[in-house]
Amino acid sequence: SKKAVLGPLVGAVDQGTSSTRFLVFNSRTAELLSHHQVEIKQEFPREGWVEQDPKEILHSVYECIEKTCEKLGQLNIGISNIKAIGVSNQRETTVVWDKITGEPLYNAVVWLDLRTQSTVESLSKRIPGNNNFVKSKTGLPLSTYFSAVKLRWLLDNVRKVQKAVEEKRALFGTIDSWLIWSLTGGVNGGVHCTDVTNASRTMLFNIHSLEWDKQLCEFFGIPMEILPHVRSSSEIYGLMKAGALEGVPISGCLGDQSAALVGQMCFQIGQAKNTYGTGCFLLCNTGHKCVFSDHGLLTTVAYKLGRDKPVYYALEGSVAIAGAVIRWLRDNLGIIKTSEEIEKLAKEVGTSYGCYFVPAFSGLYAPYWEPSARGIICGLTQFTNKCHIAFAALEAVCFQTREILDAMNRDCGIPLSHLQVDGGMTSNKILMQLQADILYIPVVKPLMPETTALGAAMAAGAAEGVDVWSLEPEDLSAVTMERFEPQINAEESEIRYSTWKKAVMKSMGWVT
Ligand code: G3P
Repeated sequence: SKKAVLGPLVGAVDQGTSSTRFLVFNSRTAELLSHHQVEIKQEFPREGWVEQDPKEILHSVYECIEKTCEKLGQLNIGISNIKAIGVSNQRETTVVWDKITGEPLYNAVVWLDLRTQSTVESLSKRIPGNNNFVKSKTGLPLSTYFSAVKLRWLLDNVRKVQKAVEEKRALFGTIDSWLIWSLTGGVNGGVHCTDVTNASRTMLFNIHSLEWDKQLCEFFGIPMEILPHVRSSSEIYGLMKAGALEGVPISGCLGDQSAALVGQMCFQIGQAKNTYGTGCFLLCNTGHKCVFSDHGLLTTVAYKLGRDKPVYYALEGSVAIAGAVIRWLRDNLGIIKTSEEIEKLAKEVGTSYGCYFVPAFSGLYAPYWEPSARGIICGLTQFTNKCHIAFAALEAVCFQTREILDAMNRDCGIPLSHLQVDGGMTSNKILMQLQADILYIPVVKPLMPETTALGAAMAAGAAEGVDVWSLEPEDLSAVTMERFEPQINAEESEIRYSTWKKAVMKSMGWVT
């Protein structure tokens, strides 16, 4: 059996918006041996604001590592077999900390946060030259989503941040940088770095030259000395300085969506995956070429698996709210107690009965990029109950995916014949079936759903100087997949989709 060939082990931190995980894989078989997960708090101090505590995030990583190692011990597997650690993380979320004290100078401003809407508006009025200035360099539209504007807000509004910058004590980073700096020693020699995939989400990074862009930093008014060093996604950044895995190299780093692309083995041009986490992100590998979208998709760095390895790019369709809508039904409306209950509610009715739910909590991302949108639930009658709303919430995730898939098909010219999926929500069978029905193509998911962590582990294990990953092609083909075929006819699917589009139009323009 697979278990018999225990090769070197590789660990992966998967720090998402909703939870942190640490997972340990057998590098011979990609088998997941042990893991632990901790939910992360989100704070909403004002309407549209979303913050997290960087120290809670760091502690959750240590807690997950300790618990996972304990579980390995119970399986009689020695933790000294763990040869490398990879990091994958929620992208764009912005942290500024003091390198002398190690203390964050403000909460992490989460990618979903909308406080920078007016910053974005005033910046967009003074884009130099043509409107393409930011997009042509970064692949991104000027939006509240990316780090540069969050960092601008911190520099404008937080005295502690201003002071630390003046006194040359400030460091900026996305979650990967904050974690790697802290885990490799923090104030005692922590390594201040990021990888090309995370850097490509800051809006300060030139995706062609793979360097911080001086003109962009001037445009956003960002002091370049606070930026981390940009490295490839697979190399030794430093060693763990504390905890059960002290001394183990951290040698992989990928934004979570890139990590999932790697974990789903989408290494060929045209291969794509869709991950259902807090948000939902469809990435399609475009090879060494930066493809620019005419349909609201982003151009982003997919991965660069080694210092001397070539860079790969991806087209990305980003949906802000997917799993977050289920959490909202649980925490804000209280119509479910656990996220899993959503499936039971939806199953009871099997239809939304004309109810449509557009969860534009953070405006709409791809393909609309419409910050003025806000969430709506419409088509209600006295017949509507919580089960229909639950069903409509699941349908919303599928419709949003349909919109980004349509955009992807238009940009690429070759329609995807099936959709490879992963992420927490894919254990929901109703959702998966609905997705196949709404896309009208098969939806395919690996039975081992932790592809994000697997991608980070693969990058870590394959790093020069570590070289433990020995997954053979026959192991890859043995990855078991579950398939969902469309069950309703195309016509029915189109009718539902066009009503959804009507609802989307109604969600726009709420905030002016
Ligand atoms: O861009 C944000 C993304 O990286 C967040 O991922 O898994 O927390 O939804 P997730």
